[in-house]
Amino acid sequence: MTLIEQLNWRYSAKKMNGTKVPQEKIENILEAIRLAPTSFGLQEFKVFVIESKELLEKIYKEACQQTQVLECSHLLVFAATKKIKNDNINAYLQSVANNRNLELSALDGFKSMLNGLVESSEEKNFIYTSKQTYIALGYATIAAAIEQVDATPIEGFNPRAMDEILDLKNQNLGSVTLMSIGYRDVENDKYLYFPKLRKKADDIFIRI
Ligand SMILES: Cc1cc2nc3c(=O)[nH]c(=O)nc-3n(C[C@H](O)[C@H](O)[C@H](O)COP(=O)(O)O)c2cc1C
Repeated sequence: MTLIEQLNWRYSAKKMNGTKVPQEKIENILEAIRLAPTSFGLQEFKVFVIESKELLEKIYKEACQQTQVLECSHLLVFAATKKIKNDNINAYLQSVANNRNLELSALDGFKSMLNGLVESSEEKNFIYTSKQTYIALGYATIAAAIEQVDATPIEGFNPRAMDEILDLKNQNLGSVTLMSIGYRDVENDKYLYFPKLRKKADDIFIRI
């Protein structure tokens, strides 16, 4: 199948059948997340990969009781950094220097740009880091389609409750989105049978 055929095949499954996704496919989806581009390359987020039934039960109750949370094979929780810290920036600059065989001082200009993030407020930092998680979410969605695995992005949940369940505040993190990964329930998910609904290309693309 071509990429476009895979993207037509995929849909946001509302009901999944509980079948486990092979680990190799999960790893490929996670690797796509790891390879997603981020602003400045900072990767200021974590992704929790959840299989624990006990945790899924708790999350389900805080995710508008969306059944795909219970019926999935794995649930991803995308959590963004709340406050960008000086230590993280310094560690990142060191890794850039090592990677490119540079003296740290060669990155002084870059450093002063990144310092702007450290000096900014937690609220602004979190908006900035949250945006990066959506790109990773997009990558994961496409990777899942290529792996012929169903994946549903989920924003319908209570982030405060999620932060408590995963103790995110103490990790300087805040939950942004979820993604259930699994296999569609072909008997019970009516959404599978709706035709793809998208705007026409001419209503989106302004070619000038
Ligand atoms: C950021 C984001 C949040 C979403 N949240 C939910 C959600 O909470 N529950 C759900 O069933 N689908 C959710 N969706 C899926 C969309 O409803 C779905 O992608 C859209 O209707 C297009 O349908 P399709 O993905 O089946 O092609 C979300 C999608 C995105 C990108």
